[in-house]
Amino acid sequence: MKLIYPSAGTPLRLIDIVKGFKGLFSDNAPFENILADFFKTKHCFLVNSGTTALYLILKILKKNSNKNVIVMPAYTAPSLILPIKKAGLKYKLVDISLDDFNMDKQQLLKAINKDTLAVLVVHMFGIPFNIEGLTELAEREGFHIIEDAASAMGTKLKNGPYVGTFSNIGFYSFNRGKNFSTTSGGLIVTSDKKLSNIFFQEIKNLPELSIKGKANLLIKTIGLSLAVRPWFYTFFKPFLSGFKYTTLHQDFNSFCYTGFQKALGNSTFERAKDIFDKRVANGLFLRDSLRDIDGLRLPVVSDKWEVAFNQFPFIVEEEFKRDKILEAILNTGIEATTLYDKPIHKVYHDYEIIDRDSKDKKGPDTYPKSTYLSKRLILIPTHPLITRKNLQKVVDSIKKQVNKM
Ligand SMILES: Cc1ncc(COP(=O)(O)O)c(C=O)c1O
Repeated sequence: MKLIYPSAGTPLRLIDIVKGFKGLFSDNAPFENILADFFKTKHCFLVNSGTTALYLILKILKKNSNKNVIVMPAYTAPSLILPIKKAGLKYKLVDISLDDFNMDKQQLLKAINKDTLAVLVVHMFGIPFNIEGLTELAEREGFHIIEDAASAMGTKLKNGPYVGTFSNIGFYSFNRGKNFSTTSGGLIVTSDKKLSNIFFQEIKNLPELSIKGKANLLIKTIGLSLAVRPWFYTFFKPFLSGFKYTTLHQDFNSFCYTGFQKALGNSTFERAKDIFDKRVANGLFLRDSLRDIDGLRLPVVSDKWEVAFNQFPFIVEEEFKRDKILEAILNTGIEATTLYDKPIHKVYHDYEIIDRDSKDKKGPDTYPKSTYLSKRLILIPTHPLITRKNLQKVVDSIKKQVNKM
């Protein structure tokens, strides 16, 4: 039987879960302090999800401003629209660049105006969005920069700071598919004392997860620690498929982060640097091995960065070839995936228009590069359980398939 390596996974050990279990009874693990030290940021706040983290950030920024528009990329997690709407805000979309798969900076500059409350800078797939120049503009024009580093924990400038800490406010996600996971969770980081006092008050008022919810979380965590292991995943795949997110979320709940997760995170984070380093190395190997293959487009990232890829993304320029290449990779036992099959403007239609004439000028699709990416993207896992041998097989399978077509 061929082993199947899952697309995502933070390796959680039994000892991490046992330590987490103790946290059910004494909520005093210093996880926030460990994270603040690691990210060299002054204030860290843990909540139940990245979505809640963004919601609290937006709620607080809105309270202190009469601006009401969030500018964000047209290709990213559609679930980001939920906290924006729940906070009573509007959103404006910016097309992505096919160079680094993040927001196009020229278009971003056109989208910012006097109504812009914040730019939501998403470091998609772990790839850094370079905010150089934007910070000065934000200060001059009076808008905020929120860094969504949900999928990018561990990406940093070589000998420099981590993404998420370049601006005043950033957040990460600890959900099960992210670079570091405590099954679920969100982390807000800020260097702003005034904001941090308000976050502290808001988070103090969040409800606790119910006993049933905590029991569920414990079971899910045990399941996750097993499911990332290829032997377990291969055997139970038909059953585990039922636990994957397949539908668009319609709402979200906000809770405190649990004592269990704090203790679990505390224990697992001892290996965080190794986990991130492995993601960086796996990404570099894939970049170097895939770069000369005809018909593939890889993200271009300056060598100034260490990129902790959440998964390694690439584009198959001819759309009809994507499924064949995906199938060839899957046949090697590595669970490569696609992502959101539609960009945000094809899921939600109430976005603010940047330029009222742009629809006529550009034809029917206002954000064509986001649409292009959504139909041609393939993601290869980079998590620490993926070996060099696995990745070599993936590369060989892609080359062979491309030569056949
Ligand atoms: C870029 C991005 N931002 C935010 C989130 C939300 O994080 P969470 O699932 O912890 O709510 C996600 C989740 O997939 C994401 O990919």
